[in-house]
Amino acid sequence: MILPIYTYGQPVLRQEAEEIGPDYPDLQQLIKNMYETLEHSEGIGLAAPQVGLPIRLAIINLDVISEDLPEYKGYIRTFINPYIEEYDETQTDTSEEGCLSLPGIHEKVKRPTRIRVTYQDEQFQEHDEWVEGYLARVMQHEFDHLDGVVFTDHLQGLRRQLTKPRLQDIRKGKFSCNYKVKVKLH
Ligand code: NI
Repeated sequence: MILPIYTYGQPVLRQEAEEIGPDYPDLQQLIKNMYETLEHSEGIGLAAPQVGLPIRLAIINLDVISEDLPEYKGYIRTFINPYIEEYDETQTDTSEEGCLSLPGIHEKVKRPTRIRVTYQDEQFQEHDEWVEGYLARVMQHEFDHLDGVVFTDHLQGLRRQLTKPRLQDIRKGKFSCNYKVKVKLH
């Protein structure tokens, strides 16, 4: 089932998400729905708050960009209760990001290129790994959602100022996109 994407202005995008356990109701179905939603919206990552659920769950599909980045062929992963444990601050990279919850906004964001993450997979097996490159960027973007952070929060100065009216438009529902969304009605 394709789920509507909650867009900027929805309070759930600003909440601190809660950890979940294997007993979370219909978890495997939810994960399946999130993959279907991600495919439908042609995204590479989706966090549970973006479908209205304040829980620590995110999915990433980099297989869809493996024509450009062949190292990610087959990289489709589910992250339960993920945390960024360490940032290697010695090297940063600035690249453009977008977000299904912020349709139409694309801005360059500076982030560390290497991070240490812990998470559980869909079988609740524990993982603890260092990740780098584009995957590290996507993980930072997705896991930020679980702490109520969106990528434009990382912008500074003029870029941040210029983005504000566009965020207000999204809040008011003044945007277009070709996937199902849920705008907060005032
Ligand atoms: Ni996003």
